[in-house]
Amino acid sequence: MNKKNVRDIQIAGKRVLVRADLNVPLNDGRVTDDTRIQAALPTIRYLLEGGASVVLCSHLGRPKGYDAEWIMRPVARCLAGLIGRPVQEAGAVVGPQVEAEAAALEPGQLLLLENTRFEPGETKNDPGLAAQLAALCDHYVNDAFGSAHRAHASTEGVAHAVRARGGAAVAGFLMEKELEYLGAALQDPERPFVAIMGGAKISDKIQVIDNLLRQVDRLLIGGGMANTFLKAQGLEVGDSLVENDQLPLAQDMLRLGGDRLLLPTDVVIADAFSADANAQTVTIDRVLRGWRIMDIGPASVDLYAKALAGARTVVWNGPMGVFEFGQFATGTFAVAQILAEVTAAGGRTVIGGGDSAAAVNLLGLADQMSHISTGGGASLEFLEGKLLPGVAVLDER
Ligand code: 3PG
Repeated sequence: MNKKNVRDIQIAGKRVLVRADLNVPLNDGRVTDDTRIQAALPTIRYLLEGGASVVLCSHLGRPKGYDAEWIMRPVARCLAGLIGRPVQEAGAVVGPQVEAEAAALEPGQLLLLENTRFEPGETKNDPGLAAQLAALCDHYVNDAFGSAHRAHASTEGVAHAVRARGGAAVAGFLMEKELEYLGAALQDPERPFVAIMGGAKISDKIQVIDNLLRQVDRLLIGGGMANTFLKAQGLEVGDSLVENDQLPLAQDMLRLGGDRLLLPTDVVIADAFSADANAQTVTIDRVLRGWRIMDIGPASVDLYAKALAGARTVVWNGPMGVFEFGQFATGTFAVAQILAEVTAAGGRTVIGGGDSAAAVNLLGLADQMSHISTGGGASLEFLEGKLLPGVAVLDER
C-alpha cells in the first residue's frame, strides 16, 4: 500500500484522532462480540505507549441522531477492560465541552467520543462536522477498515480538514493489515488462486464475482446465490430463493467463467425453511418441486475440496447454506475445515467479514486462517475493485 501509516508520523506529545470501527453487536447493554474492539487495540496501544494522547471515535449501529440505545458506554467499558487503562467518555461527538476535554488530555490518556452517528452531519460528510472533529487533534489515523467504504465526516471529510490544519491523515495497523491481505489477493496472488462465494443473494455480489472471475483460477459457488446460477443453466430449483432479474447476468458469468466456475453437483433440500424441516440430499438434477435448496451436498464438498487442494491463495465470502440451522450447516463447516487445512499446508486464506467470519469463529477455526476481515460491506467493495473513500483520502507515501 502506498499510504502512510502511524509509523510515518511523529506521535510523542501529539493528540491523535483515531477513527476505529467499534460497531460491535450488543445485547442488553453489553458487547457480545469484541472482535472489532480487539482488532483496534494495536494502533491505540502504539499511540498511547509512544507518548500520544488519543481521541477515539466510531459509529455504533444505525441511529438517526441521538438515541439512548446506541450510546458508546458499553464499548467504553469493554475497551477499558481489554486495554487495561481508563477510558474517558466524552458526553458528545464534538463541541466546546469535547474540545476542552480533548485539550486537557495528557500523553498516554484516552478519550472516547460519543457515537458519531448522533451527529446528522456524519453520514452527509458535512465539512462543518469534519472541521469540528479536526479541531480535536494534531493528526488523524483511520483504522476503521469496516467503515472505509463510507464517505462520512469521520472517515473521509475529517482527513481533508486535518490536512488543511497542517496535520497528517494516515492509516492504522488494522487498516494496513486488511489492505495488505485483501490487496495481495487481488493484485498479486500466489497461484493457484481460488475464490469461494456464497450467501443468499447474487445481486449483492455480482460485481465481486465479475471482478474475481477475471483473476481467479477457480471460483466455487454455494449458498442461495448458487440457485440463480443453477436455474440459469435450466435446472429445476423448486421453491429455492432465486433472483429472476439476475438470470441474464448469471448466464454472462457462466460464459465468462467457463470451467473455472464450479457449481454444486448435489444439494440438501428441505420441504420448508425451518430448522426442523424434512431434508434429503439429492443430485442437482433431482431437486423436488415445492422443496428448496438449503445447503451443498457431500459430493459438492468433495468437488470443492479437490479444487482447493494445493491452493496458495483463497478468498472466501459467504456461507454455503443456511448454517444457522444445524442440519444445513454441514457444507459451510466443511469448507471452513478445508480452508484450515489449506492454511496449514502453507496457503494464504482470507475470509471476508460477515457470515463466513461468523462460521469460522463458531467452529473455533479463526486462528487457523491467515486473515479474517473485520469489514463486511467494506471487504466486498474492496473485492469489487473499488477504491474505498476512507482509504483514498489518506496521505500518500
Ligand atoms: C459494518 O458493520 O459493516 C460497518 O461498521 C459499517 O456499518 P454501516 O453499514 O452501518 O455503515
